[in-house]
Amino acid sequence: MKNDKRKPATELVRAGVGATPFREHSEALFLTSSFTFASAEDAAEKFAQPMADYVYSRFSNPTVTTLARKVAALEEAELALATASGMSAILSLVMGLCKAGDHVLCGASAFGATLQLLGGVFPKFGVDVELIPGAEPEEWRRAARAETVLLLAESPSNPALEIADIAALAEIAHSRGALLAVDNCFCPFGQKPLTLGADIVVHSATKYLDGQGRVLGGIIAGGEEVLRDRIYPFLRCGGPAMSPFNAWVVGKGLETLPLRIRAHSDAAMQVAEAMQKCEKMESVLHTALPSHPRHALAMRQQNGLGGGIVSLYLRGGRKEAWEFINALRLFSVTANFGDAKSTVSHPATTTHSKVEESLRAKLGISENLVRLSVGLESPEDLIGDLCGALG
Ligand SMILES: Cc1ncc(COP(=O)(O)O)c(C=O)c1O
Repeated sequence: MKNDKRKPATELVRAGVGATPFREHSEALFLTSSFTFASAEDAAEKFAQPMADYVYSRFSNPTVTTLARKVAALEEAELALATASGMSAILSLVMGLCKAGDHVLCGASAFGATLQLLGGVFPKFGVDVELIPGAEPEEWRRAARAETVLLLAESPSNPALEIADIAALAEIAHSRGALLAVDNCFCPFGQKPLTLGADIVVHSATKYLDGQGRVLGGIIAGGEEVLRDRIYPFLRCGGPAMSPFNAWVVGKGLETLPLRIRAHSDAAMQVAEAMQKCEKMESVLHTALPSHPRHALAMRQQNGLGGGIVSLYLRGGRKEAWEFINALRLFSVTANFGDAKSTVSHPATTTHSKVEESLRAKLGISENLVRLSVGLESPEDLIGDLCGALG
């Protein structure tokens, strides 16, 4: 069977650069900062290539290429590039695509560090960034203008689980000659933004792609031309390279992504349904719950998978949220998500604490919001832990 006929689940296991002469079965880990050349002529030729062959691990490394090929297959992208973290993927995206005088639209419900980077850092270099509250495409259309070069949407968003209409945003971006990038870290494998019209996908590989909370990583996937000509030159000289060790870990994690994301989604749905019945909850958000305001769109975009994140709005405020978090025994209190271990966080005082209070309020990141990342433990045990902590 030819490679281009294989399904993503097969490529997540099989894609890569192939075995070394030792014929190892599991992928080799190339821990080397540089590569040797056959001669001075060979070195000069390799340095002259637009996307360097194996020269130096800041530019490229076979273990990192193996990971990138797997994610390109996952996202149905022509090319994927790996970076040191999810934030360095977003940094590289904007550095590669934008210059002073350009205008960028970003969903205001994006991850806290994304908002700080786009809203706080880039304006210092003359890139005008506008945050768009709400998931209504018409708001994006109104804000887009001639100087707009990039729309960045996170869907589902962290932690308010807002759903962007990816096809509608792609149409708006393209009608202005801009590109749409989607942060796809909440529902990988289920959602494929490029097939819905997006131009670029970014990931924090730290989350579900690794899947066991071990290493940091980031991904940018999309069309070959834009990645090779506009983003890769920044990566090559800017240096936010992924470590080969991290790439090896994430690459092994990807082999089980389809199984994991289905299990996370099923368990999260069971948790969400149980929490909905609890009188101490004001409301419960999970994209697979019919009560989610954009349930139908989410299910279409995510191929029926809800993902592992459940956002709980408790009756009360910070005190009740913190007491609940502190009473949990099985959920780890930590900022990461997408791990086999279930985690819990209080976004208003952690990941989103630097977002202005008025914006937080608009986005639904209130003091009574608790974010759960439902892991791979028994859902029965998790529900027991949650009910026990609620008293
Ligand atoms: C939606 C989203 N994008 C990007 C990031 C940043 O990823 P990293 O921590 O790997 O830099 C995060 C981190 O939590 C996130 O939740």
